[in-house]
Amino acid sequence: MTRIRKAVIPAAGMGTRFLPATKAIPKEMLPIVNKPSIQLIVEEAAAAGIEQVVIVTGRGKTEIVDHFDAHPALEDLLRRGGKEALRQEVIRPTQLVKLSTVRQQRPLGLGHAILCARELIGDEPFVVFLPDDLVDAQVPCARQLMDVYDATGKSVLALMNVSRSETSQYGIAAGDVDPSDPRLLHIKTLVEKPSAEEAPSTLAVVGRYVLTPDIFDYLAKTNPGRGDEIQLTDALAAMAKDHGLHGWLFDGERFDAGDVGGYLLANLNWARKTPRLWDLVQQYVKSHQR
Ligand code: UTP
Repeated sequence: MTRIRKAVIPAAGMGTRFLPATKAIPKEMLPIVNKPSIQLIVEEAAAAGIEQVVIVTGRGKTEIVDHFDAHPALEDLLRRGGKEALRQEVIRPTQLVKLSTVRQQRPLGLGHAILCARELIGDEPFVVFLPDDLVDAQVPCARQLMDVYDATGKSVLALMNVSRSETSQYGIAAGDVDPSDPRLLHIKTLVEKPSAEEAPSTLAVVGRYVLTPDIFDYLAKTNPGRGDEIQLTDALAAMAKDHGLHGWLFDGERFDAGDVGGYLLANLNWARKTPRLWDLVQQYVKSHQR
């Protein structure tokens, strides 16, 4: 089976849920503690064993590319000032993976954004990371999916359980639970953002996918769907019928950093990893408790 080496990060969306912050700044550059959120995504990719990442960008997203590029003047300044630890932090994003970018000329939807990476991915399986979805996990979420792919050879999506009142915010999957592994789902149905009444289950698709290159043909054939956008979910539903599709109930905690509340919680979650910051948060909460 072909080893997975490449990943796509679609980042050409407008980020309307985060306005006005995202009027002039790409939402992927908003920091989680002291790193842009997209760096956490690329770090997950590198930790999962991904070697090449394609970021799909659009108008107003050049800061993302700059962040992963070398900055010799800043590196020299930090070296001369004896700030070696900071210098390493500045260099780190350039060393994680081999990075390329492709522009999506018009925001025609997530499915179309992935299709834009077709030439750079070629004829091999790859991972898609939606940069809004930050996952804190012992084994990187992408690695968990890659392990399922290595065992089954089929495309696989990350799943988590949500409450019925939340189904309209997610793609929802339903199917048969694997007899030998309760966390593995053989997906039969996939619906984009169904109402609580219409949802075939409460298993929500989270923004990590391992996809076989067949997906590109399905995306190319997919007509604009919900919101007049080319939806990845529609292409996946068609591919599931012909090739099969798996879901994996991943281990880890997921934060929606594209939503103001989720972003705040993600900052608290990552602040918890630095005792000095976590002490500050706890002191703040204590002194403001009613
Ligand atoms: P969303 O539907 O969350 O859109 O896209 P968005 O613009 O990022 O955010 P909101 O909802 O307006 O606040 C899901 C993912 O697909 C990418 C986005 O960048 C995001 O990572 N995307 C979406 C594209 O790259 N191109 C598109 O045309 C649409």
